Amino acid sequence: MPDHFLHVTDLEADQISAVFDLAAEVKTKLRARDRWRPFDGLTLAMIFAKPSARTRISFETGFYRLGGHALYLGPDDIGIGKRETVKDIARVVSRFNDIIMARLFEHAHVLELAEYSAVPVVNGLTNYNHPCQIMADMFTIWEHLGRLDDLHIAYVGDGNNIVHSWLRLASRIPLRLTIACPENYQPDADTLALARHAGLSEVTISHEPLTAVRGADVVYTDVWASMGQKEKADERRASFAGFTVTSELMAATGRNALFMHCLPAERGVEVTDEVMEADYSIVFDQAENRMHVQCAIMLTLLGSGNK
Ligand code: CP
Ligand code: NVA
Repeated sequence: MPDHFLHVTDLEADQISAVFDLAAEVKTKLRARDRWRPFDGLTLAMIFAKPSARTRISFETGFYRLGGHALYLGPDDIGIGKRETVKDIARVVSRFNDIIMARLFEHAHVLELAEYSAVPVVNGLTNYNHPCQIMADMFTIWEHLGRLDDLHIAYVGDGNNIVHSWLRLASRIPLRLTIACPENYQPDADTLALARHAGLSEVTISHEPLTAVRGADVVYTDVWASMGQKEKADERRASFAGFTVTSELMAATGRNALFMHCLPAERGVEVTDEVMEADYSIVFDQAENRMHVQCAIMLTLLGSGNK
């Protein structure tokens, strides 16, 4: 097992499956209110340089419910990389805590945090990727469709941190991954190359949502302006005209496709209310599964999965 979880590619395919098996066990136990306390006496430091609902709640609640204590260190608390260098924070925080979760702007900062930390670091989102999200998403698809292979995922929207995580996952699990984005909002070229060179998945970039979703098992979208880009939201809305996930777009899959969104959603922008509320929308299953999958990741990193 890796020392840290910073990218989905830090896990091999068999380790991803093992995390999913463990997540299913965590989910059963948490839902049954089982008094399983593998994190008894442990502390999790959660460093947030950006806002969050799901990530904070799922890490804090999950760690607590498995017997540990989680500390929230918000944007105004430790000022990572501003008030103090990343490497100093890494060494200080890891003297006090057993594991660290960090949501930061710069991906280089989470890499540096891990380099200097004496305890495992989990990436809770950077400008570059969001590996916990994609693990929870794939686990959710597995629950709904009962398989991890032969899946066609159509992502419609911005080539952002969520897409980079999908691309990295495509280098570990064979997928048909179609990414429909405007010309100027494509994912990082190196990450695209990484996914393609792994030779496992069929990765296609398209600028035509209607044709991109044809035959998809899952249609996935995310906001058009991520955290840190909100001042460009109007300009982005103009560039993304035609990329909203509507009922018509879902119908264009020609299948009973599932709809997914990492949330928070901007209803009426990248997705309609109707799609968010449809029976095929599994966005709240995704949100719940963040907690179960992240607990499984932390149990794995801490070597306490069998306690
Ligand atoms: N999906 C997700 O990470 O949500 P938050 O930004 O609310 O944590
Ligand atoms: N791309 C979004 C994901 C939020 C979970 C963002 O970075 O804001």
